[in-house]
Amino acid sequence: MTGFPLTRLRRLREKESLRALSRETHLSVSDFIYPMFVTHGRNIRHSIEPLPGCDQLSLDYVLEEAMEAADLGIRGIILFGIPQSKDPLGEEAYDEQGIVQEAVRAIKQAVPDLMIVTDVCLCEYTDHGHCGVVDNGRIDNDATLQLLSGTALSHVLAGADMVAPSAMMDGQVGAIRNALDASDFEQVPIMGYSAKFASAFYGPFRVAAESAPNFGDRRSYQMEPGNRRMAMREIETDIEQGADIVMVKPALAYLDVLARARERFDHPMAAYNVSGEYSMVKAAGAAGWIDEQAVMLETLSSIKRAGADIILSYHAKEVARLLREMGGVY
Ligand code: PBG
Repeated sequence: MTGFPLTRLRRLREKESLRALSRETHLSVSDFIYPMFVTHGRNIRHSIEPLPGCDQLSLDYVLEEAMEAADLGIRGIILFGIPQSKDPLGEEAYDEQGIVQEAVRAIKQAVPDLMIVTDVCLCEYTDHGHCGVVDNGRIDNDATLQLLSGTALSHVLAGADMVAPSAMMDGQVGAIRNALDASDFEQVPIMGYSAKFASAFYGPFRVAAESAPNFGDRRSYQMEPGNRRMAMREIETDIEQGADIVMVKPALAYLDVLARARERFDHPMAAYNVSGEYSMVKAAGAAGWIDEQAVMLETLSSIKRAGADIILSYHAKEVARLLREMGGVY
C-alpha cells in the first residue's frame, strides 16, 4: 500500500528538529559576495536612496566596511567605482590610479584574506553611460574588447583575486583570458556575467553607480528577458572562452534560467540578487507590508534552491549577522 494514510508528509514537519533535518536547501555566509561602491575623496559616505544600507564610500570607509564584512565571515566582495570624471572611452576604468585600482590595493593590504572581485565594465566611466565604445550611435563590440582587457589587467595588477566582466560584449571572456595569460596571470579566475538580461531591476544600481545610459538603452548587448535558450548559448560561449564561474543576472525573475543552467553545466554558478530586487524588499519592509527578514531569507533560499552556488547580494552583511545569531546556517 502506498499513499495516504501510510504516507503522511506532515510527519517531517511536526517539530523544528525534523524540519531542520529534512531541509534541502541551506544558506551559509560563505555563499555570499558583497557589492560595494567606491568613490574618490576622504571621509565620504553618500547614502544611496533606493539602496538603504549601502553607500558610496571613500577609501577610508571602504576599508572599514571590508574589515566589517570579513569579521562577519563574508569571504568575498565585488567592487564598483565612481570615477572622478567621465569621457567617451571610460579612461578611468583602466587607469592604474583609478578608484577601483586604488581600492583593491588598499583592501588587499588591510584585509589580505578577503577575496576581491572586480566588475569589469565601462558604463560607470563613460560620459554616455554605455558599456562599450560608441561609434555612430552603435556600440562597437570589438573596439570595446581591448578596453575591457586593459581594465581587467589593471585590476589584477592592483591585486584583484578575480575579475567579472559584465559588459555583455561578445568575446569579452576570451579577450580578458588572453590578456591575463600574456601577463603571467593564468591563475586568476574569471567570473562571467554570462546570461545578463536587459533588466529594469538594475534601476537602483544605476543611481548608485551613476551609470544610466544618456541615450538609448542596453538592449543591443544585454539579453531579451524572454530568452532562456539564448541564455544557455551565452553561458556556453563564456565557458568555451574560459570562464571559471558563470552567472545568471538578475536572479529572481530568472530562476528558471538558473535552474536550467544548473542542469546543463557543471561550472560553479553565480546569481546576482540585483539592486531592484533588494530595493523592493527594503521598501515593502520599511512600509511594514512584509516581514523583511523572513522575505530576505526566503528569496535568498529560492536562489540557492534554483541552483546558485554563489549569491551576489546587497543583503550579504545583514544575512551574515542573522546567520551568526542562528548558529551559522539556515
Ligand atoms: C555594469 C553592471 C550593472 C550591474 C552590475 N554591473 C548595471 C547595468 O548593466 O546597467 C547591475 C547590478 C545591480 O542592479 O545590482 N554593467
